[in-house]
Amino acid sequence: MSATESTNAFLEKAWSEKGPKLISGFSRPVYHNVMGLLRGRKYDKRAYGGMIRHTEAAMLTQWASQVPQGGVVVEIGCYGGLSTSYLLRGLRKKGGHIHAIDPFNSDLGKQEELTDNLVPLENKPTKALVAERLRRNGFEGMFELIEGYSQEAAARWDPSVKIDFLWIDGNHEQAYRDFKDFEPHLNPGARVAVHDAHPRYGYQAVVDDVKKIFAEGAWADLEHVKSIITGRKVG
Ligand SMILES: C[S@@+](CC[C@H](N)C(=O)[O-])C[C@H]1O[C@@H](n2cnc3c(N)ncnc32)[C@H](O)[C@@H]1O
Repeated sequence: MSATESTNAFLEKAWSEKGPKLISGFSRPVYHNVMGLLRGRKYDKRAYGGMIRHTEAAMLTQWASQVPQGGVVVEIGCYGGLSTSYLLRGLRKKGGHIHAIDPFNSDLGKQEELTDNLVPLENKPTKALVAERLRRNGFEGMFELIEGYSQEAAARWDPSVKIDFLWIDGNHEQAYRDFKDFEPHLNPGARVAVHDAHPRYGYQAVVDDVKKIFAEGAWADLEHVKSIITGRKVG
């Protein structure tokens, strides 16, 4: 079976099976659920206006803790800082750094043009509020909040900064573009994870883009956690 065929088989299985599966192979819901209970409830999801599930939160921490020493995470779509906090929690073990991109509450007219309409623009968290939240959570010095759009941040990216974990949860209509924009800056073996990438828990446009992302090149450790599809790019 070619790499593309085995990726397609993985996605087909991830998206088609219903109900709990055993701890084996690519999808390990019992493990994910235990992780969610133990580690996915640290931050107040409601207060942050967070949009990730407890299982997904716990696994973000787990994957961030697996980057190399001094590793770099890029987050596209930070919103109130919930996923950012879980990523930073894992990253702390590695003395790593996160660059979290979001327009926050800047220029709402521009946001109406450049973002999808899936996240309400009313009461969007400010960059200052999120920064304060992350500091309160003990992450001072570990993060840079970039107020703007992934495509702009990618165009200005310093090519000497290599990325170990790319987390895509921004505009649901441009997941593939986000991947392609940052792909040149990924370290070999970097993890890419895409949220809302399941027909039952996510959005069709993201599902379509995820098929394209993981059909290109070679991937290791493909995993499916609720609406997240992730893998490490090895070629
Ligand atoms: C689904 S929310 C992110 C939720 C967050 N990850 C969490 O765990 O709570 C998507 C966010 O991405 C932002 N966004 C939309 N387009 C973007 C882009 N091109 N670059 C960066 N952020 C973007 C939206 O404004 C919104 O704040």
